[in-house]
Amino acid sequence: MKYSGAFLAVVGVCTVVICAVLLLDRETREQGVNTVFTSWQSNTDEHARLVEHEDETGSQDPQPDRSGDDNGKKVDTGVWPYFGADLPPDRPKLQTCTEPVKHLVFIKTHKTGSTTVCVMLYRFGVTNNLNIVLPSIPVNVGWPFPLRTEDYIPPKDASRHFDLLVDHTVYHRRIMENLMPADSAYIAMLRHPLHHIKSVFNFYNIPKQLNMKAFKNPLEEFLKNPIKYQKPRQKDYKHKPFSFTRNFMAFDLGFPPGLAEDMNAAQAYVERLDREFDLVIILEYLDESLVLLKRTLCWTIKDILYNVFNEAPMYRYEMDLTPEMDSNYRKWSKVDYLLYEHFNTSLRNRISELGGDFPQEVAHFVTVKNRVKTFCEGNDEQMVIPASKWDKEFSVNRKFCFMLKSTRMSYYKYLVKGQVSKELLSKASGRGENKKTQRKKKDAQLMSNRATKQG
Ligand SMILES: *[C@@H]1O[C@H](CO)[C@@H](O)[C@H](O)[C@H]1NC(C)=O
Repeated sequence: MKYSGAFLAVVGVCTVVICAVLLLDRETREQGVNTVFTSWQSNTDEHARLVEHEDETGSQDPQPDRSGDDNGKKVDTGVWPYFGADLPPDRPKLQTCTEPVKHLVFIKTHKTGSTTVCVMLYRFGVTNNLNIVLPSIPVNVGWPFPLRTEDYIPPKDASRHFDLLVDHTVYHRRIMENLMPADSAYIAMLRHPLHHIKSVFNFYNIPKQLNMKAFKNPLEEFLKNPIKYQKPRQKDYKHKPFSFTRNFMAFDLGFPPGLAEDMNAAQAYVERLDREFDLVIILEYLDESLVLLKRTLCWTIKDILYNVFNEAPMYRYEMDLTPEMDSNYRKWSKVDYLLYEHFNTSLRNRISELGGDFPQEVAHFVTVKNRVKTFCEGNDEQMVIPASKWDKEFSVNRKFCFMLKSTRMSYYKYLVKGQVSKELLSKASGRGENKKTQRKKKDAQLMSNRATKQG
């Protein structure tokens, strides 16, 4: 006998104590989430049904449960772990900068014109030799799930951190703070919800999905009675935990679809985003937003020049918008409206607080943008933009035009070559792949086909 009974007893007691401490810690961490669950579960009947549905799926699912720490309890995939746990971000908002900010997270919301900004940010990254988080499989970094390590290509130089995260991902502050430098700026983008849903209807061909092709204005019809036309909750909900037609922008920003009717949670969430984001770009005021971005990040006019990408040349359906559709959609996608109105107003307030020469700077930016556009359509080798009150002199050349017009996929392909070893590339392109990567690949293929078509 090597160990005496007393020794074993001590070991046993210690183990119990350690386990208890770990468990307690876990409870503290999850308290915020549980509060949300409780209030949510006591909500409507429909919600109760949704929770039941999740219970049934149980452990039979061949896919790993990506909804997080389910702990064998009722956890709906619509609520991320730690949602509602009110964690202050690691750093306060950027108030003033003295030199260009080169660490940035851009939450690329769908169908908001965000590709235009995303490509501009890729250009900034390449120009400044920054480390960009590249999705393992384009074009999503984990989206529609919280980002995981296998969703991005590891940096070639493991000692160097990432600088930019600009592709589709679900906003999840904790995960992002683990991945990105603590002083990263956080930027998002929104557009008017009614124009947004119109774009979603067109791009994802929702009328076909909902068997509404026969209607003259399928969007108008849908908005009259969304519940009637809404597809029943899909069996593959776990793999598609969002709704195209309801609060889709809020989903990208991390708001759980299951809380669509909980306006207290929504209000609290919007306030939280207001604290955590340095700027929310509004598509309808893109130029104003970008000049504000320039000022917030100490960038130059050259940095914020952009080319418009993915603008649909024509919609498949006639979907004229009416005030009635607006008020109907407002009842259905309450959270998106709340979000949009909040950040539309705060953009406006920030601009009027700035006062001074802000409008003149925007006008100057628009003039420069148009001059560069004309230059890029021509054949001259170089053009100099003289110094202004707001910027030093700079020049553009053919290479700049090439970069301005390069698509997201060309940046991606260019960067992937520099970042990835051959071995990793062949892994990512799928030898010995399982069902999940096959599915993801198919999705990626679809997305990039679409992107090419639209681009
Ligand atoms: C957004 O802000 C602009 C400018 O203040 C305002 O004219 C517009 O009505 C706002 N839109 C919404 C939907 O709040």
